[in-house]
Amino acid sequence: MAVLWGGRFTKETDGLVKKFNDSLPFDKRLFEQDIRGSAAHAAMLGRQGIISDEEAARIIEGLGSIKADIESGRLEFTSEYEDIHSFMEAHLIDRIGEAGKKLHTGRSRNDQVALDMKLYIRDEIGQTDALLKHFLGTILNVMKENLDTYMPGFTHLQKAQPVTLAHHFGAYFEMFRRDRGRLSSILERMDTCPLGSGALAGTTYPLDRDFTARELGFIRPARNSMDGVSDRDYLIEFLSALSICQMHLSRFAEEMILWNSNEYQFVELDDAFSTGSSIMPQKKNPDIAELVRGKTGRVYGALTSILTTMKGLPLAYNKDMQEDKELSFDAIDTVKNNLRLFDGCVATMRFNKEAMARSARNGFTNATDVADYLVGKGAAFRDAHSVAGALVLRCIDRNCALDDLTLDEFREFSDKFDEDIYEAISLKSCVEKRLTEGAPGRASMERAVEEAGQYLAQS
Ligand code: ARG
Repeated sequence: MAVLWGGRFTKETDGLVKKFNDSLPFDKRLFEQDIRGSAAHAAMLGRQGIISDEEAARIIEGLGSIKADIESGRLEFTSEYEDIHSFMEAHLIDRIGEAGKKLHTGRSRNDQVALDMKLYIRDEIGQTDALLKHFLGTILNVMKENLDTYMPGFTHLQKAQPVTLAHHFGAYFEMFRRDRGRLSSILERMDTCPLGSGALAGTTYPLDRDFTARELGFIRPARNSMDGVSDRDYLIEFLSALSICQMHLSRFAEEMILWNSNEYQFVELDDAFSTGSSIMPQKKNPDIAELVRGKTGRVYGALTSILTTMKGLPLAYNKDMQEDKELSFDAIDTVKNNLRLFDGCVATMRFNKEAMARSARNGFTNATDVADYLVGKGAAFRDAHSVAGALVLRCIDRNCALDDLTLDEFREFSDKFDEDIYEAISLKSCVEKRLTEGAPGRASMERAVEEAGQYLAQS
């Protein structure tokens, strides 16, 4: 067994204990970050004269050869090592001998793992952001093509007022834009380098922490070494941003599932992004959207888990913190995959514009506009509301839309109605009159689409 603490111990670790304690099976995914951190540390040790330049160069070269061998599959992660850090050190010593034993000078696995995780999360935030940006591009394409696609807007899942598909998707655009904003603010706050914090109390060697921080792309070293090794806030923030993003994805998926149902028929999912039934030949199921929605549980689970793990931990490092990895990795993979899949789903779905318009027309979504019409003719809104309500009741009785009523029927309820009522309550004018900023009217949405395009071009 290849352990790092041999000197003080006289017995071998119990087999079950070893398995329980080991993290290599999951922290092996940090190998690239571990090598990056070690190379920066070795370069700094050399510059500071703590080890010789030649030793530093041999370490960096050795790390490079390990990296290449892992990437090509020539070097495997075998179970005798406890974690990625001991794996690396053992292989380095194997390859370059004595110089390898000097790499850990002025360093602890506590600041090492804190660094590895931070580097990893920083990379993952970048990848998540790129996927979000791509998805926003897909949403924006749908918006551009559907400025005049009328559909009912809902409240309480009841048809409320007519909107456009561009407007509806525009709401999701804003949600995922905010998700990106959360990611970039996390990046700003987490921009301190833990390396050089040592086990918890720094070190007696003359480390140049500014150098390693810069080398590794951080703005500065962690200001406090105890915080440096025990801070996992950035991970909690990331999981919480992912949970919010996943909540948005889940709402979106839920709507596409509804819209794809026989009752709505607003969208048809592409064959490549749906599945069939083994028994019912007519079925085309929205499994992908359902899975995107369903996987929300494991993402929230990871957030709850790390919050709970961290809540009672005294300073500084505790082994509990090793539990920051497995569920986090799973949650990150899950959200990234969901973004990819759902992006493809949205990019390929077909929108049934007739069904959307029909649904808006048949759902009395223009009832508010009937009332507004009467207000325009001098009625008080409360009276106008009541007249419009009575007209809706009549339509339900006759099984027709408001615009199907004859002018005589309108006039039974108020003598303020004239021929121009039909124009006033057409779907088109109901939408086009809504021109306040953020509203679905074409002129307003054109500005929104323009702004969204500029935002994507700039960020
Ligand atoms: N595998 C450990 C982790 O993931 C690395 C740090 C171990 N440090 C220690 N003192 N045991 O947290």
